[in-house]
Amino acid sequence: MTVQDVQTKPDFSTEGLARVNGRKPVDMERSAGRLLRSSAEKFYDAEIDIDWDAPWEDDKYFLPEHRVSLYGTKLWKKMSEEQRIELGRHEIVSILSFGIYAENLLSSALLRMAAKGDLTDQKSLYSLTEIGDESRHSTMFARLINKTGLPPYKLPKGFLGFAKILHFVPLGPSVSGATLLIEEILDRAQREAMNDPRMQPQLRQLMKIHVLEEARHITFARLEMVQGMQSRGKISRAWHRGVLAVIANLAYPLLINPKVYPAVGINKLRGLWAQQTSPNYRVNIQFMSEPMIRFFHEAGMMEGKFTMAMWRATRSLPDDLC
Ligand SMILES: [Fe+2]
Ligand SMILES: [Fe+2]
Repeated sequence: MTVQDVQTKPDFSTEGLARVNGRKPVDMERSAGRLLRSSAEKFYDAEIDIDWDAPWEDDKYFLPEHRVSLYGTKLWKKMSEEQRIELGRHEIVSILSFGIYAENLLSSALLRMAAKGDLTDQKSLYSLTEIGDESRHSTMFARLINKTGLPPYKLPKGFLGFAKILHFVPLGPSVSGATLLIEEILDRAQREAMNDPRMQPQLRQLMKIHVLEEARHITFARLEMVQGMQSRGKISRAWHRGVLAVIANLAYPLLINPKVYPAVGINKLRGLWAQQTSPNYRVNIQFMSEPMIRFFHEAGMMEGKFTMAMWRATRSLPDDLC
């Protein structure tokens, strides 16, 4: 199946996403079996499903203009059209670089899950299958970065050392929550951008492929979260809620590396300050997070003073949950 055959609905579609009820019991074996069948039927190979040889199109965006971090700021008004497109190019490279790190980390959690399970049950088989999807995605992201001609935006070594702690966080709702945190915010942003005809065609294809395959991952992680919360006692649930809220505060700021600003001739601190104080920061982060936060709320992940204070600090909460 090629991605060109796939019809996607405009803008904020939820195509491919299964509704997971945060309050109902989960039949994981049946659901994982369904996800396994879907993985066998619908998967893409970016090596052949993206036309890598076609040149970038002039005047097309690498990120929708209104989602570029400085959009609407005073700095933005002073920037030329070329500079704005160039900033979008650097920001997508930063997001995809972060995506590679994140998929690495998620895959290691899936490996742990497969090793911890019954080895031959549907859930273990699906965990292994999902690692295959993520390997193809990271290869696709790396290929796209290479095509821009820009180097990837690497995270500082100290931070990577710190991130290793996540390999030891006990599996459970905080790990499925961290998975959703990455997958759902990117999903929402990509569903919008992939339907935007002003975007570079290769990026639209990349986003379509990613959205279509990630729909399964989101379903799996949501099911995992619901099951995990329902099978735990009060103290364990509170621990996982708190850990997820802390991870959220670390993850959001990593999407856009502040080094993107000097790359387009803007002072790093000035760019970062403009990004953080822009009213669009909250608009964008709320937009990307809303379906996920509502699900977390339904699944019982948004309770307790500490948890809510941490979430408020991310500025991602919809107005009615603040
Ligand atoms: Fe992925
Ligand atoms: Fe994924």
